[in-house]
Amino acid sequence: MFKQKKKYSVFVTRAIPEAGLQLLRKHANVRVWNQTSPIPGKELYREAARADGLFTLLTEKIDKKFLRANKHLKIVANYAVGFDNIDVPAATALGIPVTNTPGVLNEAVAEHALTLMCAISRRIVEADRYVRSGKYHSWQSMLFLGADFFGKNLGIVGLGRIGISLARRAAQGLGMKILYTDPRPNREFERHYDAEFVKLPELLRRSDFVSLHVPLLPSTRHLISAKQFAMMKPTAYLINTSRGPVVDEKALVRALKKRLIAGAAIDVFEKEPRLAPGLTKLDNIILTPHIASATVTARDNMSLVAAQSILDVFSGHRPKSLVDPAVWRKFLAARPVS
Ligand code: GLV
Ligand code: GLV
Repeated sequence: MFKQKKKYSVFVTRAIPEAGLQLLRKHANVRVWNQTSPIPGKELYREAARADGLFTLLTEKIDKKFLRANKHLKIVANYAVGFDNIDVPAATALGIPVTNTPGVLNEAVAEHALTLMCAISRRIVEADRYVRSGKYHSWQSMLFLGADFFGKNLGIVGLGRIGISLARRAAQGLGMKILYTDPRPNREFERHYDAEFVKLPELLRRSDFVSLHVPLLPSTRHLISAKQFAMMKPTAYLINTSRGPVVDEKALVRALKKRLIAGAAIDVFEKEPRLAPGLTKLDNIILTPHIASATVTARDNMSLVAAQSILDVFSGHRPKSLVDPAVWRKFLAARPVS
């Protein structure tokens, strides 16, 4: 009789693009939490208990307690480049590989940051509301004056793949001067884009636009707070497509109210999806619901990368995007591949 190879089980914590699901279904038994809101903790524990691999969204809190209760998991594949929702050191200690989806969403996120920059500085959302509400009666010489980009300074905080993608567009497309800050200077990048490496306070003092591209770490929590807003130009704009807690949201509301800066456009929130009081009352901010990577192509590719990571682990291959590569030896030692 035909002997079927063991089919592993995957649990997917929310509806995801068909591309990734199809790939998973070819090789594994797949269950999906097919709802628009996050899976309740109890259900997640129940489903994880009978799964070999977990496909998670950034809304799922994969903490030490969860990982200890689910030591049998062969992988947690996060459908995001960020992984602050997962206790990675705890997963490594237990020999559970954690993967993310870098590489396939850089361009989409950089494009969203650029879109936000354009929209806030040229007051697109305000202007649209003005026209819709029937207020447009006559052309005026000083109606909705905005800020321009050409020759202005863009300060990039965190020079990873996304920061570099934004720099390319801003330097080569918009004629902006690039300042950047990062733990290490990148001389090749500087030569290529005529960029300047500076410390954060200098970047804040000199930039006309500040765009955040750091991961959320203990060292980047509230990186931008009251003290930093006070350093910025009153004509400057803040763009955040990284993680909400990188900005002290209450301090942001105060800075915008007092016009310490000209405006902000943010895609992420400190206590997502809750918003700091007063945020939605401000006219100098644009708010989008964590959609920076939300293009059809990026999301398809993210689902494929996460699905492939799961299948790689099931077949004993090291997945490409291990968040902590040190886990792999532990994984193999704990679960010898036959
Ligand atoms: C989205 O925020 C991501 O980390 O991919
Ligand atoms: C504006 O519409 C102009 O023609 O300058």
